[in-house]
Amino acid sequence: LPVDRARVLVCDPIPAVAIERMRAGGLGVDEKDGLSPEALETLIGGYDAVVVRSATRLGARQIAAARRLRVIVRAGVGTDNIDLAAAASRDIAVLNTPKASTGSVAELALGLFLALARRIPQADAAVKSGRWPKKAFSDGIELAGKTLGIIGVGRIGGTLGRCASALGMAVVGADKAAEPVGRFEGLELLSLEELLARADLVSLHTPPSEEGRAVIGWEEFARMKEGVLLVNCARGGLVDEEALLAALESGKVRGAALDVFAGEPPRDLRLARHPHVICTPHLGASTREAQARIGVEIAQILLEQL
Ligand code: MLT
Repeated sequence: LPVDRARVLVCDPIPAVAIERMRAGGLGVDEKDGLSPEALETLIGGYDAVVVRSATRLGARQIAAARRLRVIVRAGVGTDNIDLAAAASRDIAVLNTPKASTGSVAELALGLFLALARRIPQADAAVKSGRWPKKAFSDGIELAGKTLGIIGVGRIGGTLGRCASALGMAVVGADKAAEPVGRFEGLELLSLEELLARADLVSLHTPPSEEGRAVIGWEEFARMKEGVLLVNCARGGLVDEEALLAALESGKVRGAALDVFAGEPPRDLRLARHPHVICTPHLGASTREAQARIGVEIAQILLEQL
């Protein structure tokens, strides 16, 4: 590479269109998926920009080793895998693509509620195994007429709420902001406690708290209605996994769908294997459309910044 060419290290898989655009714009791009924290620390010093999704953690050590780094791009929404204070102390810009995956995450959450209500993956597995358990699956529930509680009424929460409303559900929301960005007509804003007491279905759409404290723990499960359905397409740490297991065992939670886990992939599979749990491997933003939008935005950010 010519010496003056800015170099970009892409640590997690991103769409080919982004790589092509960056290269066409004159950037030197290296794709290195699955680097260990140590390998990343060794390599990062040679780059002007780094692109990550959710798998790669850019901690204080990696950022300290990034001698010429000017930009970190998070190909997605959450920046919780980046030590923002360490980046700020070195004047490294951290940029994300906050709008590109809104619809995709909301649609996954909706799909997971539909799957939970009728236990679609479990019924599918039963038929594939040669059984025909029509009676065992005859206690599905309709979503119309139920109350959906959305914790975090941002872009994603608001989009999910509007879809749920169109399906005939009542939608209540809880948010730290008095006027949340995802607010829509028909949404009733409540305190978290009130929401938990009212909701038949609960969906999480907040970033993790800075202290890493779960938003839904033992106390919150105790406040929920009997037989509630829970979806988490946000961050694993938002739900206390032991408390969720206990709530599933007691029947307080009738079904939970998890796209995210406290550790990914989860090493302890008790939750993932629970018969009333449906899991996906952090797929919220993994649609062709969202990834295409993210790809175009990343390339644009880097070509502007470098
Ligand atoms: C995000 O914050 O956008 C998600 O974690 C999606 C992802 O990177 O897969």
